[in-house]
Amino acid sequence: MKNIWRYNKLLPAVPESSRLLLGEGDTPLIKAKTIGKMLGIPGLYFKLENLNPTGSYKDRFAAIFVSILKSRDQHVCLATSSGNTGAALAAYCAAAGINCTLAIVDGAPQPKIKQMQLYGAHTYMIKGFGKDAAVTEEVFGLLKKTAHEMQIALPVSAFSYCEEGMQGVQTIAYEILEQQDSFDHIFCPAGGGGLTLAVARGCIAYSEQYSVKSPKVHCVQPEGNNTIAGALRNRRQQANAITTSTTLISGLQVPSVLDGDAAIASCTKLGGTGYLVNDQDVFKWQRLMAQQEGIFCEPAGAVALAGLAKAVTEREVNAKDNIVCLVTGSGFKDMLSVDSNFGLPGLQLMNVAQLESNIRALR
Ligand SMILES: Cc1ncc(COP(=O)(O)O)c(C=O)c1O
Repeated sequence: MKNIWRYNKLLPAVPESSRLLLGEGDTPLIKAKTIGKMLGIPGLYFKLENLNPTGSYKDRFAAIFVSILKSRDQHVCLATSSGNTGAALAAYCAAAGINCTLAIVDGAPQPKIKQMQLYGAHTYMIKGFGKDAAVTEEVFGLLKKTAHEMQIALPVSAFSYCEEGMQGVQTIAYEILEQQDSFDHIFCPAGGGGLTLAVARGCIAYSEQYSVKSPKVHCVQPEGNNTIAGALRNRRQQANAITTSTTLISGLQVPSVLDGDAAIASCTKLGGTGYLVNDQDVFKWQRLMAQQEGIFCEPAGAVALAGLAKAVTEREVNAKDNIVCLVTGSGFKDMLSVDSNFGLPGLQLMNVAQLESNIRALR
């Protein structure tokens, strides 16, 4: 079976007997059917990270991190999560027989929490965590202290906390460069910037190792969580923490600067920039991805495409460019946002005669 461990030269060393496999990685890179033409970019591709085993790219992080725990014979995993990291860690911990305890951001979508719970994780949601910078710092502080006392690593999906796990996320870039070496741009959604940094570092590492050209890596954030994208766009070197995150996009509510500075440096090195998008635009692109492409993603999964649409408006990409938008999480992860954003009709039970009158028009 093809899997992310084939990049083991670029990954932390883990003995084969401890490597966990649930089908992560090697996600499809598919050409857009209509949205590319709509935007005037026929070479638009989607990297379907929503098709990872727990429904998001975080499986690449959890696969590496929990395999390391297993190789060290550790029995406890303590982590924070906005939903997807927790679901991924919970799944891999279940597979490894490791106790998983998770501090979850305030307002994380129920399906993500139910997923963690069904995998057997202990889940605690903290008021203000992920929304309010002071509470967020306090939670991270407490967990850091506890992890230090217990002598265990804290798997926050950011290089500033857990470089080893994030090396697993770099495999997204290796796969893209390996599948086709002539991409001009990759658009990444960002909260704390770990994903963007992983993709940029992955592009740098792979292009140096195999002497191929690297695409530009761009960072896209919701306006309500502008910690990195605005600074990158304005050529500043430092990300800025905000007091309160106001975006509704789950996963991208990260008021503190986690990997922001490093993400800015790596994107800049590759010629990338930042884009800010508003939540309503993201929901619009989420709907279009479902209706024009057949791709069902959570709102965060449509942020990269919303950023590309901005780049097209600003004339910052060319019609000839080959472009990848990362689709980072599955639509099943946030069904409440589907209910509240799209006004889909409720179903009324009907009889066969009513069905017949409704489908008569199809003939
Ligand atoms: C679906 C999804 N996309 C993107 C991100 C952003 O990742 P980062 O916080 O590393 O920027 C997250 C983070 O949780 C996420 O869950």
